[in-house]
Amino acid sequence: MQDHYKKFDLTGKVAVITGASEGIGRDMAIGLAEAGVDVIICSRREEKLLAVKKSVEKTGRSAETYVLDLQQVKEIAGLRSFIKTKTDRVDILINNAGHAVTKPAWDISENDWDAMVDTGFKGLFFCCQAVGSIMREHGYGKIINLGSTFSKSIVPGRSVYAGIKAGIDHLTEALAMEWAPHGIRVNALAPTAVNTPSRQVTLQGPMLAKVLSRIPLGRLATPDDLMGAVIYLSSEASDFVTGQTLFVDGGWVAAS
Ligand SMILES: NC(=O)c1ccc[n+]([C@@H]2O[C@H](COP(=O)([O-])OP(=O)(O)OC[C@H]3O[C@@H](n4cnc5c(N)ncnc54)[C@H](OP(=O)(O)O)[C@@H]3O)[C@@H](O)[C@H]2O)c1
Repeated sequence: MQDHYKKFDLTGKVAVITGASEGIGRDMAIGLAEAGVDVIICSRREEKLLAVKKSVEKTGRSAETYVLDLQQVKEIAGLRSFIKTKTDRVDILINNAGHAVTKPAWDISENDWDAMVDTGFKGLFFCCQAVGSIMREHGYGKIINLGSTFSKSIVPGRSVYAGIKAGIDHLTEALAMEWAPHGIRVNALAPTAVNTPSRQVTLQGPMLAKVLSRIPLGRLATPDDLMGAVIYLSSEASDFVTGQTLFVDGGWVAAS
């Protein structure tokens, strides 16, 4: 009988996490460090990243920070070069950064579109390509793309965001198929509404009530609720899982 629990062990692994300056990405960086992972964290705001770095270092693991704007693809090439100066191996990539605009579809501007698509879809793809190419050198890696329950069902005001998240599910399947021969597993993690600083601004009053009414478990998610799935999808325990979207949603999709 094998000791299956050991397959969840992440000690000594290296993870790259985008959008790690606050919210879900911040908590994932700290959570993975608590599980023994050294992290490379990126976003646009250096001051916030440095605060996260301090929290990571309190766990005894290391954190490198890299400032980048995912809307600029050439900055993603810079991230790849930076990673190569720090480590020859990346085990885990979490494509967490996203940009959400809540507006009726009639009112979405080209700038709104570009900010959402360039950050959450184009930027995500080129991070997969840049960091995935480092994984390919070692024939192993785990990519986790942040999806959303809005890939399956939506609320008004989230048309473009929902389209991006549906696209992420399908892109995840496509990359999983192409990169399986290189040992790179690509999966998506799709939460329902998570209580993060950005969502505390948008999820209020009738909108909050509407969202809560659609979550059978009766509350918003917290970033902590996602950590079990992150550890699973990052670890050898999920080595035969690729191209999947794992919903951590309190039952939202099942009830839709
Ligand atoms: N919270 C929810 O309810 C919820 C539900 C389902 C899915 N999700 C998904 O989970 C992920 C994180 O959500 P969150 O609520 O934690 O988001 P958030 O609080 O808005 O944080 C987004 C992160 O992305 C970074 N970011 C935004 N634009 C960027 C850009 N152009 N270049 C580089 N970094 C950029 C931000 O850092 P800087 O500003 O420092 O760049 C920040 O660290 C997103 O993909 C979101 O769609 C969230």
